[in-house]
Amino acid sequence: MNILILGSGGREHALAVKIAESEKLNKLFIAPGNAGTDSVGENINININNFEEIEYFVIDNKIEMLVVGPEVPLVNGVYDYLIKNPKLEKLKIIGPQQKAAMLEGSKEFAKEFMVRNNIPTAKFISVTKKNLNEGNDFLKNTNPPYVLKADGLAAGKGVLIIDNLKEAIAELELMLGGKFGDASQKVVIEEYLDGIEVSVFVLTDGNNYKILPTSKDYKRIGEKDTGLNTGGMGAVSPVWFADNEFMKKVENQVIIPTINGLNNENSTYKGFIYLGLMNIDKKPYVIEYNVRMGDPETEAVIPRIKSDLIDLFCGVADNNLDQKNMEISNQACTTIMLVSGGYPEAYEKNKIISGLDKTNNCIVFHAGTKKENNNILTNGGRVISITAFGENIEKALETCYKNAELINFEGKNYRKDIGQDLRVK
Ligand code: AMP
Ligand code: GLY
Repeated sequence: MNILILGSGGREHALAVKIAESEKLNKLFIAPGNAGTDSVGENINININNFEEIEYFVIDNKIEMLVVGPEVPLVNGVYDYLIKNPKLEKLKIIGPQQKAAMLEGSKEFAKEFMVRNNIPTAKFISVTKKNLNEGNDFLKNTNPPYVLKADGLAAGKGVLIIDNLKEAIAELELMLGGKFGDASQKVVIEEYLDGIEVSVFVLTDGNNYKILPTSKDYKRIGEKDTGLNTGGMGAVSPVWFADNEFMKKVENQVIIPTINGLNNENSTYKGFIYLGLMNIDKKPYVIEYNVRMGDPETEAVIPRIKSDLIDLFCGVADNNLDQKNMEISNQACTTIMLVSGGYPEAYEKNKIISGLDKTNNCIVFHAGTKKENNNILTNGGRVISITAFGENIEKALETCYKNAELINFEGKNYRKDIGQDLRVK
């Protein structure tokens, strides 16, 4: 098969490496890709939000499968745009149609979907300038901390968690006034869920589904979960507290009602559903849906899949995922992200990355990197994701951290405490 992956991060490099292992692959393209994807496929310089460009490329290069990494093209309707061209009727697209992508594109839509389908989630209210008073009343009648979320996509930055009521009321007004641009014209306020987070990914053909290994990501820049939110500083898989009993609840109370709900609303969903869950006293609550794989969770989850990923994706496209087998490695897998100094605030790019050839026992996934004159340079906030296996997450992390010392670039930063909170005492 000829396959095109959209995206340029560690997630896309991890997907590319896994896809490139398959005997079913003829040619792999990544748009726009990075210095890592370049060595497993061909990077092509097209804008992933220009659907016409994608359409021409797919036709000209006889692409048979399109794997959409990030959310923005999905929320903007890349699925619907391509599928309406009769020449692309047979194109296998891994990603939902626009209507279903609203699960990530609008927090209000996602919350209302959960209420309609009896899926456990925090109590909420949706606020615009018109019902600001109701929003303020909700805050006054809720215990701190206060959770304010921009309704629309805000590149992972649109959620504020505030301890103080006065500040929350002030922030609500700022958000509605455009703090996150159009994304916060509407704000979802919700109750704070006090528990421990776990990410669960589901691959579905719209009816059948496979639950991928559990994982946990570390979003804050600082150790012990302090400081600003980032795209994610590391991830581990599996997560021991997501045991069989918990996962049965996730399946019955979240996954099945989600898939049934999408079907009842005639939404076509073929791809990954990301469930951001909070475990409160062994009960799952949905914090958020995403309509794609997580990054960096992908770098710790996809390597654990032993089965052929193209074959699984064919099951998704052809509605026979139930006939595919997904075998999982029983080794633990962890990943830690090396980031640019200053990230997630302003940082410099174009720093030379050295030591990539010195690593061992690990997989180096590139995120924000590019090739220039035989050098590999930093080209983003999150630069390199180092993944390793081990008999448990402690062992896997040990290998990640040894290798993290070997790769260098000016300003390199990483969290030293990934997975610490999951140590069994
Ligand atoms: P979201 O983009 O909705 O996933 O929110 C970003 C992060 O904020 C989540 O990963 C959680 O750590 C935190 N968060 C969001 N909603 C809540 C909530 N209701 N209670 C506690 N923490 C939350
Ligand atoms: N790791 C969080 C995300 O991909 O949204």
